[in-house]
Amino acid sequence: MAVKILVIGSGGREHTMVWKLAQSPRKPRLYCAPGNAGIESLATCVPINADDIAGLKTFVQSEQIDLTVVGPEAPLALGIVDEFREAKLKIFGPTKSASRIEASKVFSKEIMASAKIRTPAAQSFDHLAPALAYLEQHELPVVVKADGLAQGKGVVVATTHEAAKQAVRDSMEHAVFGPAGQRVLIEQFLDGEELTIMAFTDGRTVSPMLPAQDHKRVGDGDVGPNTGGMGAYCPAPLGTAALCEEVTKQVFYPAVETLSRMGCPFQGVLYAGLMVVKGLPYVLEFNARMGDPETQVILPLLKTDLLEVIEAVVEHRLDQLRVEWHAETAVCVVMTSAGYPGSYQTGCVIDGLPPLPDPATMVFHAGTARTGAKIMTAGGRVLGVTGLGKTLAVAQAEAYRMTRSITFDGAHYRTDIAHRAFACRP
Ligand SMILES: Nc1ncnc2c1ncn2[C@@H]1O[C@H](COP(=O)(O)OP(=O)(O)O)[C@@H](O)[C@H]1O
Ligand SMILES: [Mg+2]
Repeated sequence: MAVKILVIGSGGREHTMVWKLAQSPRKPRLYCAPGNAGIESLATCVPINADDIAGLKTFVQSEQIDLTVVGPEAPLALGIVDEFREAKLKIFGPTKSASRIEASKVFSKEIMASAKIRTPAAQSFDHLAPALAYLEQHELPVVVKADGLAQGKGVVVATTHEAAKQAVRDSMEHAVFGPAGQRVLIEQFLDGEELTIMAFTDGRTVSPMLPAQDHKRVGDGDVGPNTGGMGAYCPAPLGTAALCEEVTKQVFYPAVETLSRMGCPFQGVLYAGLMVVKGLPYVLEFNARMGDPETQVILPLLKTDLLEVIEAVVEHRLDQLRVEWHAETAVCVVMTSAGYPGSYQTGCVIDGLPPLPDPATMVFHAGTARTGAKIMTAGGRVLGVTGLGKTLAVAQAEAYRMTRSITFDGAHYRTDIAHRAFACRP
């Protein structure tokens, strides 16, 4: 009997995970909760939200799902892995206590201090007055971070003391992030190049993925407001073999060992958000799951069966698996609704989606929904179009060739994804 797998989530990351799992030679039977209009063609979508732990558990038990794979951070922070393990259900992802490395930036700094991981200096505050007083003396720019999960909106890089204080007040006094912002970190600003490196880990062995870079700003040339991610590319030339090895040895192993020693072993995907300054990697943050849109460029380059990797992690035998990668490149262009990341309209018909799989491009759905035979926009980030190629220039051309053929009212995308790669001299 085919192995039954449930993927939790509904974005481009989850579409990519489902798409990759569908290629497993073991032909798994795939389910996704809640999924989207693209995932539907590969998996049975079930209308259970990603943070409805009880609902997900009931579904897994009644459908006799063999393995659950968690996409987003919210169910991890709620303790889905602990609950599933208690019920003897196989699940891929870190426990609630291990996922604090993402869900609390203060905890993450404590781990880094204990593991001697290079990271910008920071001070945490639980009260408004001392935070404001501390800011007075701080050099500019300065970075203000809400401690908890804030859907990518909890960080302000302030260039004036006034703006920094406003960020602290918004977080602590006006509680714009709710309890997540009652504690803040005030952090030293680093000027460098950002890089993402993720790793599979079973709590003992670390298997790093290829380095990637994403584009957070909404507009060409990296201008305008921050978004959930407008595109990504992989491998990023900034992530040289030497740098990746250094990050494996000086970041991932110490972090994983420290978490284990503290009684919260980490199993799943550990994401290091890095700032590379004069060739030295500093950790800005850890995430406890795969990144979006980085997943849309990394998993297409994974040669090893993703199901084998996930099982090796869950069964603590990653040391026995050689994870291999294709010697290719990938570029993902995210198509968004007009107005995103501000308010935007949904329910626009999407035209030009390829009827058949195209060998050089994949269209990963994020905010989409089906109405009859039509696929409509249903979110801010709508699609992620990934092009593959021998070089980044070819992958970029493939991604844009497909992007240009897809249309919907008010569609926006950046036209310069991967531009940093072409200018990079690591
Ligand atoms: N110390 C820092 N120096 C410079 N830029 C920073 C610093 N910390 C964060 N940033 C910027 O803010 C973004 C978001 O910060 P991050 O710590 O990754 O939090 P989150 O992803 O949870 O919003 C980073 O991708 C980076 O661009
Ligand atoms: Mg980040």
